Amino acid sequence: MTQNRTNFGSRFGIIMAAAGSAVGLGNIWRFPVETGNNGGAAFLLVYILSVAVLGIPLMVAEFFVGRYAHSNTATAYRKLSKSAFWGNLGFISVIGANLILSYYIVVAGWVLKYMIYSANGTLSAIFNASDASNYTALFNGFASDVWSPIICMVFFILMSHCSIILGVQKGIEKFSKIFMPMLFVILIVLVVFSLFTPGAKDGLYFLFHPDFSKLNSQSILSAVGQSFYSLSLCMGCLCTYASYFSKKVNIVNTAVSISLIDSIVAIMAGIIIFPAVFSSNIDPQTGPSLVFIALPSAFHQAFGNWPIISYIVSTLFYVLLVLATLTSAISLHEVPTAYISEAWNVKRTHAATIVTIICSLLGILCSLSMGILSDVTLFDKNIFELFDYTTTTLMLPLCGILITVFIGWKVNKYLIVSELTNNTYKNTAVVNIIVWILKYVAPLLLIVTFLNGLGLFEF
Ligand code: TRP
Repeated sequence: MTQNRTNFGSRFGIIMAAAGSAVGLGNIWRFPVETGNNGGAAFLLVYILSVAVLGIPLMVAEFFVGRYAHSNTATAYRKLSKSAFWGNLGFISVIGANLILSYYIVVAGWVLKYMIYSANGTLSAIFNASDASNYTALFNGFASDVWSPIICMVFFILMSHCSIILGVQKGIEKFSKIFMPMLFVILIVLVVFSLFTPGAKDGLYFLFHPDFSKLNSQSILSAVGQSFYSLSLCMGCLCTYASYFSKKVNIVNTAVSISLIDSIVAIMAGIIIFPAVFSSNIDPQTGPSLVFIALPSAFHQAFGNWPIISYIVSTLFYVLLVLATLTSAISLHEVPTAYISEAWNVKRTHAATIVTIICSLLGILCSLSMGILSDVTLFDKNIFELFDYTTTTLMLPLCGILITVFIGWKVNKYLIVSELTNNTYKNTAVVNIIVWILKYVAPLLLIVTFLNGLGLFEF
């Protein structure tokens, strides 16, 4: 079916779709949490370094594979290698994307619900300046419930499903071209509001004044992991999207633009979140509950004298999260959909339906693990945590190591140079540097990150 494949329609569409994949919960939820836990600005510096040195070369590698093969991720690696070992690398990414989507939609469902809670006034109504426990109770009650989180989750995956079945240009590209600019406008509005909060100075100081004594091996490795997650690397999203790039697209420039956009959004999310957190005396290290417990309270406290502004800021913030999450989920959805439709030779609509059903079923298990299935654990982790751990801590760096070794050592370098320069053989120095990083630097750093994630290595 490869001969029927469409391409993205424009360069703007490509950047918006790929940036849409990258910008998600990773930027607005995980990044501030990780920055908070790892001491602020010093972490931010290591993060930026990791994006530049590791992230961009790996993104280029994935773009190369996808555009060269012009097919879904699993088939793409098989086209590049006859060996069973390397050829199956893409298939592992397809499974990985499917598993990430399964728990991603659970959090996405919460985000959707919180958008409604904010818009219908619930978050404003329960505000109590001296006590944030109302927000804790609201979140715990909702997340541990059986039906409401599942309904929100299914509704969310159906939104992603709809854009997938509309096709690459009419669905993915069009949605991204509408949602991403909206997201940027909301981000800017929220940044401006945030600069007027009482905690703005302290929040910005925390984010931009590096305290290197807070930096240790653990925080460096968290920065590497966070950069990979945030850029949507290693799980086939970028490879699949690149398979819809025309042969004229400049891959290196595109990778640099997307990494820049992604990092700027993460920093802007930090500028929105930390001033609010510092305005309300919440510990910046509150962890994953930050977005659902600490922040709603922080927004209301920060603008305590103007409830209408708290209402607008908090609602806009959750709309922002919904948009960011949706475009990322779409890219995760597309990976197995493209694989199933091309490799099993079934219609795109049917392929998307299969993925929606599988992810919803797995997502239900993840969702229930916050409530009635919370006792089902393995290695001390509930089902949700197991999905997150297996994909983010194990599969992601592992695939990263394999992709870098594969591209750096196995694939013919002339093929890479010709694809990355669009057969012009101009600027080969840049390509040489990228291949050199993929060959030596990236695998080493990733192996250290991986072993550390497993607790097998510390430095
Ligand atoms: N990058 C997205 C975010 O920041 C999540 C995401 C989409 C992702 N595709 C991925 C993470 C592939 C890892 C791998 O929320």
